[in-house]
Amino acid sequence: MVKKPKPDLRVEIGSCILENPVMVASGTFGYAEEFKGFMDLRKLGAIVTKTITVKPRSGNLPPRTCETPSGMLNSVGLENPGIGSFIKEKIPFLEDLSIPIIVSIASEDKPDEFLVLAELLDRIKAVSAIELNISCPNIKKDRLISQDASETFNLVKAVRGITGKCLITKLSPNVTSVPEIALAAQEAGSEAVALVNTFIGMSIDIHKRASRINSLVGGLSGPAIRPLAVRMVWEVYNKIKVPIIGMGGIMDIESAIEFVLAGATAVSTGTANFIDPAISLGIVSGLRKHMEDNNIADLREIRGKLKICAD
Ligand SMILES: Cc1cc2nc3c(=O)[nH]c(=O)nc-3n(C[C@H](O)[C@H](O)[C@H](O)COP(=O)(O)O)c2cc1C
Repeated sequence: MVKKPKPDLRVEIGSCILENPVMVASGTFGYAEEFKGFMDLRKLGAIVTKTITVKPRSGNLPPRTCETPSGMLNSVGLENPGIGSFIKEKIPFLEDLSIPIIVSIASEDKPDEFLVLAELLDRIKAVSAIELNISCPNIKKDRLISQDASETFNLVKAVRGITGKCLITKLSPNVTSVPEIALAAQEAGSEAVALVNTFIGMSIDIHKRASRINSLVGGLSGPAIRPLAVRMVWEVYNKIKVPIIGMGGIMDIESAIEFVLAGATAVSTGTANFIDPAISLGIVSGLRKHMEDNNIADLREIRGKLKICAD
């Protein structure tokens, strides 16, 4: 009998090489240290940190989360210690993990804050990539950068000019055309796009006649958004050349593979981490088994290979 080759789970996200394609989504895994008692963090493909801003933020007032059918709404509001404390207190732990560390950044007031953050992170060896969070729905702004193609282009281009680190742009699903924004990010020098961030939603307690979260609206995540996210990954895959990091309701091996078939190079677990903190590693082993069982040597064999049936 011919011996099957061992599946190779490695994937490339721009200049970052991941030992496997399973990452953890920003804001759902803290700064990783919180999860060290649950799993061997070194076995993750990569870690994406909670989004960091220039100054510390205490976030929005509670209640900031609520459960919805097959999902959750959150309005955390980018609570984080600020870049100074992040570098001093969080980087040493992340550095020791020796896996790709992706630092998510955002501005509060002016887009220039992205440049300040990128310049500081550019000097840190342990940082493999910078993820531009231009899509957070939970900070008070009329419009997000990722809701406008030219603003996206200008921001990515400006950051590209000051850092040689791998650059990832996190896109919003709250737009008419995600591919248009993805294309702008790619043309400005983004080496990958991450999608999707949360969908703006609302949940009302009919007895209190009030929103279940303090800020009225919040970001919807979890299995409820998966079909929308898979569709968006597929649409973007057909428009751009750079790798896609797919997320939105990934709960198990099947949902992870759905995203790969739609065109994702890597996948991230988000809301699932609140249910089972070690779920991402279960997906890594499930993926390896799926590849062995189906004689898949490399994920490129199935990436974007959704079968299109002609009627
Ligand atoms: C509680 C919570 C906090 C989040 N915080 C961030 C954040 O700081 N930055 C960011 O880019 N995305 C943030 N997200 C969005 C996730 O990274 C992810 O894009 C989204 O939840 C979809 O994936 P999921 O359905 O698997 O959770 C947050 C999501 C949740 C549920």
